[in-house]
Amino acid sequence: MGHCHKHVDQPKAEEILPKLEVPSVLSRVEELIRRYPVPRSALLQVLWLAQETLGWLPQEAIKWAAAKCSVSPVHAYGVSTFYTMYKKEPTGRFFLQICQNVSCHVLGAEDIIAHAERTLGISSHGGTTSDDLFTLLRVECLGACGNGPVMQVNDDFATDVVDGKLAMPAGVALTAERFDKIVAWCRDRAKSLSKEPKRDATGGIFESKGHPGAKGAVSQAQGFYAPVPPALGVAAVRTDDGKVKLTWRAAPETTTLHIEKKTGSDFAVAASISGKEKEWLDDAAEGTEYRIVTETAQGRGKASNVAKAPAAKGA
Ligand code: FES
Repeated sequence: MGHCHKHVDQPKAEEILPKLEVPSVLSRVEELIRRYPVPRSALLQVLWLAQETLGWLPQEAIKWAAAKCSVSPVHAYGVSTFYTMYKKEPTGRFFLQICQNVSCHVLGAEDIIAHAERTLGISSHGGTTSDDLFTLLRVECLGACGNGPVMQVNDDFATDVVDGKLAMPAGVALTAERFDKIVAWCRDRAKSLSKEPKRDATGGIFESKGHPGAKGAVSQAQGFYAPVPPALGVAAVRTDDGKVKLTWRAAPETTTLHIEKKTGSDFAVAASISGKEKEWLDDAAEGTEYRIVTETAQGRGKASNVAKAPAAKGA
């Protein structure tokens, strides 16, 4: 965990690999890597998948993710330590992350962090209560500055309890009173969960809604974690019979390819074809510009590179 230097027992590779090298995890890894032009781009998600599977990120899991994404273990480790969302040690069932960054700071985050430390009797640098219920961590900007000070409980923002659920209503900031309310909610909820915390054999305790990119996951972050892959390597060539032939590479999940052609200063859709198509022919003058916008079940991706029609042969 970010600032914490306490000793963590690291499980051996043979303890964690049987959990990671299973078809359900491996097929997700494959699917994630396929979304990007190069495997290393999937590193954040593969690390997250390992964490979801194990409850935290032991060093051997980081090495495993590195190998899957063709990066060095030290690169993957560096990435994992940059983001506080990756747990380098097991946490309590409720992982409380309070933002200490500028906006939250000026709005009183430090007082709330001090209150949280006093109330739970643990350090805000990754301390865990002896009943394994709470881990407290001060973190950098959680991206909800307008609501500051803010806290995240496991995968969700929480500044209040509304209708029996953790919530972050617009404009409702975390206060010491609301922190107490949230802690009481967590304690209450812990009673209705199984007696034994969901403790992985390797020590992780977690209650996660799932990998943000997972099928059926309810995370709002899905759009961020699973960008629609754009068409790559769009190229235009002139065929023997004088047509412009457009070719590209598109991810297998592409449902539709919108071929855009520049007329005047704007691109306009010239054709929308099946995502399975591999080429498209057009009659156009030299210099005509094309680009492709992909569409998957999740929506539209970014426009591809622009390809220009070459001169006609023999012209
Ligand atoms: S500064 Fe706290 S969420 Fe951005």
